[in-house]
Amino acid sequence: MKIAIRSTFVLAAALAVASAMSFAQDGAALYKSKCQACHGPAGTPNPAMAKMMGIKPTSDPAIQALTADQVATTVKAGKGKMHPVAGLSDAEVKAVAAFFKTLK
Ligand code: HEC
Repeated sequence: MKIAIRSTFVLAAALAVASAMSFAQDGAALYKSKCQACHGPAGTPNPAMAKMMGIKPTSDPAIQALTADQVATTVKAGKGKMHPVAGLSDAEVKAVAAFFKTLK
């Protein structure tokens, strides 16, 4: 009985780690396919794009100050010159917003 409980716990912990990892990987993959063209591979847009479209790098204090929820809202509803990003489920929007917040 004791052993069964313990192995259930280990299994649950392993699943939690696995799902946390796939969350991060999904966010990164989604960023690459949906955001990178405008925001650059690491959150800094190329200078021409930044100037023409007015995109701030993720190192900008104004971008750093955004919460993951605010990033998600921008992705879903658009903001200023950024159009809403189409083709993402709510879970994907959340994952990509969380990943965006990890970019400095
Ligand atoms: C077609 C180009 C384009 C794509 C693709 C794009 N963005 Fe943007 N993004 C912009 C532009 C342009 C702005 C600046 C908007 C403004 O201030 O007028 C911006 C601004 C932002 C901001 C700052 C909003 C604020 O409150 O100032 C966030 C956060 C953001 N984008 C996240 C994302 C994420 C996450 C994705 C991918 C899911 C994405 N963007 C995809 C062009 C793009």
